[in-house]
Amino acid sequence: MIRYLTAGESHGPALTGIVEGVPAGLPLTEDDLAQHLARRQKGYGRGGRMAFEKDRAIFNSGVRFGKTMGGPVSMIMENRAFQKDEAGWPTVMNKETEADGIEKITLPRPGHADLVGTQKYRFDDIRPVIERSSARETAMRVACCGIARQFLKHFGIEIGGHVIQIGKIGYKDWDSVRKTVDPLYEKGAENVYKTADESDVRCLDKQLSEQMREEIKIQRKAGSSLGGIYEIIITGVPVGLGSFTHWDQKLDGKIAQAIMGTQAMKGVEIGLGFEAAKRDGQNVHDEITHDGSKFNRRTNHSGGIEGGMSNGMPIIIRGAMKPIPTMLNPLGTVDMHTLKETETRYERSDVCALPRAVVVAESVIAPVIANAFLEKFGGDSIAEIEERFKSI
Ligand SMILES: Cc1cc2nc3c(=O)[nH]c(=O)nc-3n(C[C@H](O)[C@H](O)[C@H](O)COP(=O)(O)O)c2cc1C
Repeated sequence: MIRYLTAGESHGPALTGIVEGVPAGLPLTEDDLAQHLARRQKGYGRGGRMAFEKDRAIFNSGVRFGKTMGGPVSMIMENRAFQKDEAGWPTVMNKETEADGIEKITLPRPGHADLVGTQKYRFDDIRPVIERSSARETAMRVACCGIARQFLKHFGIEIGGHVIQIGKIGYKDWDSVRKTVDPLYEKGAENVYKTADESDVRCLDKQLSEQMREEIKIQRKAGSSLGGIYEIIITGVPVGLGSFTHWDQKLDGKIAQAIMGTQAMKGVEIGLGFEAAKRDGQNVHDEITHDGSKFNRRTNHSGGIEGGMSNGMPIIIRGAMKPIPTMLNPLGTVDMHTLKETETRYERSDVCALPRAVVVAESVIAPVIANAFLEKFGGDSIAEIEERFKSI
């Protein structure tokens, strides 16, 4: 099974990642991961940081001559602000010494981990909470999960995402999304992200893209922020990943955890999701057909998962992201030292991170699918897994 851990603070020296359980013999280079790291950094509505951080995960172990060796793959990714000694970060995040005059952060931002994290860990300064709860961590997550993504691609399983809603701007309904995106993944879901990447809001509809950009502009001016909804498609998934036999074996449940374990995600849908609850059964369940060689479905309202198992149709997942909590226009808060009511202070921040969150969501799902695949066809090496996969 593939397991990964990330470590590191937003303004510390570096982020670190360890991925274990990667079968031996998987072709893998730093460039394979860099392409998705670069995608995570691009998108309309971003804050200042992205302008100077160019992420690259450097392998420290587990890869030789462009292939995995079966041992843990460890990676490091520098935080440039610390490395370049910008804004005093090496002093603020010093490992050993607390210099005189370092300002304590005492104004918790509503919607962030600030207040509860500080109470829970008994800090007198919010800084340590901000540093680890920040979405900077998702950079290393994209790198770690990129290895699982590479593994899936080797077996013809592709992942691709696009934005369907930003604030109140979005597609009319399920069918209008299907009409736009379904033709794009006939030959694999990577075509979805590659096409969506042509828009800086990662939306496949040109008119909606323009409206979304406009909406972001308006909210930026108003000092506010926006969330939205994205959709992730996975193609090439064989029948029978996951299981109906136990609650914790269900593939949809595991996908939901991966999405909800990502900063700012507040909802997950598989297939029709909440819309299914509003329709009658005749207009939800996908009729079964057979084309002479395999079973199919007339529609894919279930989003490729029935009974907690992949049914061979493309998996369709939606995630809802709340608006960014750090905003130019302040919200009411309480100073944790003086206990006086006051207002939040602004730190550089995104206005809308939806276009970049899509890349994070595509990534975090990869180890879930890879592990369900390994559970069924697993082995120590790619060669061994190929033999088992071919035998079905
Ligand atoms: C890709 C991405 C970028 C984000 N950028 C910011 C940001 O610039 N400023 C901010 O306050 N929150 C940002 N967030 C959201 C916060 O990290 C998140 O809301 C916070 O950690 C609280 O966690 P929770 O919303 O899951 O409760 C971002 C999230 C993601 C996924």
